[in-house]
Formats: sequence, C-alpha cells, structure tokens
Amino acid sequence: MTERKKITLPYLFKKAADGEPITWLTCYDYPTAYLQEQAGIEMILVGDSLGMTMLGYDSTLPVTMDDMVRHTSAVRRGAPTAFIIGDMPYMSYQPSVETAIRNAGRFMAETGCDAIKLEGGASMADRIQGIVDAGIPAIGHLGLTPQSMSALGGFKVQGRDASLAKKIIEDAKALEKAGAFAILLEMVPDRICKLITERADNCIIMSLGSGPDAHGQLLIYHDMFGLYPKFKPKMAKVFGNAGEVILNGLKSYHDEVIGKVFPAPENWFGMKDEAYDDLIKMLEEK
Ligand code: KIV
Repeated sequence: MTERKKITLPYLFKKAADGEPITWLTCYDYPTAYLQEQAGIEMILVGDSLGMTMLGYDSTLPVTMDDMVRHTSAVRRGAPTAFIIGDMPYMSYQPSVETAIRNAGRFMAETGCDAIKLEGGASMADRIQGIVDAGIPAIGHLGLTPQSMSALGGFKVQGRDASLAKKIIEDAKALEKAGAFAILLEMVPDRICKLITERADNCIIMSLGSGPDAHGQLLIYHDMFGLYPKFKPKMAKVFGNAGEVILNGLKSYHDEVIGKVFPAPENWFGMKDEAYDDLIKMLEEK
C-alpha cells in the first residue's frame, strides 16, 4: 500500500485554490482500485457507468443501489486513502429528498465512501441540500447526464447554444448554493467550463471532456485502456491498450492448451514416489 495520507476535502480545496489539477478516475473493482491508489490518483468515482463497463447493459438505468454498494465497498478495500465517490444510481434520489438522503446514507454507512454524486441541475438542488444537511459531502453532475440520455437525445455535447449554456451556468450556481462541494461538467464546451470555474466561489469544478480550465480532470478507466469494446468517446485518450494485451494473452492460452504446451511441469503439483506407491498398493488391496 502507499504511504500517502488520506485524501480529504480540505486537501482537495487547497489544490483547487493553488491551481494544481486534481486527478480523478472511475473504478469499479478491488485490483484496479489498488493500482489507482499506487499511481497516486486522488479521487475515485465508482460510477453507475459500471452498468455498461462491468455488467454489459446498454445504459446505466438498470443499475441498483445493491450493485453500487458491492462495487464501492470493493474499491474502498483496494484504495484506502483515495477520496471515493459513490454514484447515486437511477431512481435512488429522483423520487424525493427523503429517498435521496436515505440512499446517500446507505452509501456512506455500507461502503465507507467519502462522498456521493448525483446528476441534474436546479431541479435536484433540494436533493443536494438535504444530503449535505445530513452531513454527507455531495457532488453535482451537469452537461451530458447519462441517466437522462433519452431526454437529451443521445451522447452529445451539451450547451453549445447560448441559452442552454446559460442554463448550465445557472444550474451550477444552484448546486453550489445548495452545498455541493464539487460539480462535474461532462461534455460541456471548454469556454462554458472556464466561465463556471471562474465563477465558482466555494466549489471544485471537474471536467470530463469539458477542457483544461476546470480544477481537475476525470476519465472513464475503461476508455483509457481500450477495455470497453462497444465504443470510444472522442474525449477519452487511450493511455495503453490493455484490452489488446489481454486478448493476445487469452489467444495464447487457448492455443497452448489445445497444443498441449500448457501446463508445463512448473505449473502443476506432484507427489513423492513413496507416497504414490503406497497409494497404488492401498487401491490394489481393496
Ligand atoms: O457513471 C459514471 O461513470 C459517470 C461518469 C460518466 C461521469 O457518472
């Protein structure tokens, strides 16, 4: 494990104030969390994108609180010092403020995460406020919000025209006023992200495909390493093709088993001749 101290909210606010970019990635399992911790990643989002990247659904909508709790607990075990955010799944906060507080509380109590994230602007500000009043740090999510994909008309940049851009800026202020300590802007034009970051008084602005002027960056882990076969969004830089490495390894395993190359003696366990002879005798005596 790393020697690093636990990442805290004051640490994140200090970095933002000092103009030092904050690093944030998605993660859904123990071994990847372990690696992200070793790499010094500061924030980890256990996103409901796990519905697509880990469970093979076509959207995030079927993901449940039980799914999120199981994966978030695994990530916490792998990354004890990272600042971990549990992503509130579809319909875990939309029905009412009370539902939102109960599910945010469940996340904190059952997974040991540090904060929660939920999607939506001014119309979700009362959920953010309720959660924050209950003592739970909350992050807002604006721009492309995958749980509203049907209403948004697909995976596309949000806020390219002036009136929608103004709405996103107003939504950001509403979330900040409600007490969100951070806001994620997903697929918003870079200039809108810059305006929101400049106008943030006490709120950390994070970018996913929204340019360099936020306080930090988020990427989807599976997009970074070629691990999601269905599509690669433009905003995702590939930092290594783990998918290709794994596929080549799987093909070699397949070929070695059918070619009787694997297993080799170093890959199995034997027993002493004497014990084996005794066994054969015992079997013959029967
Ligand atoms: O679920 C998730 O990973 C997210 C990102 C798309 C920001 O919410």
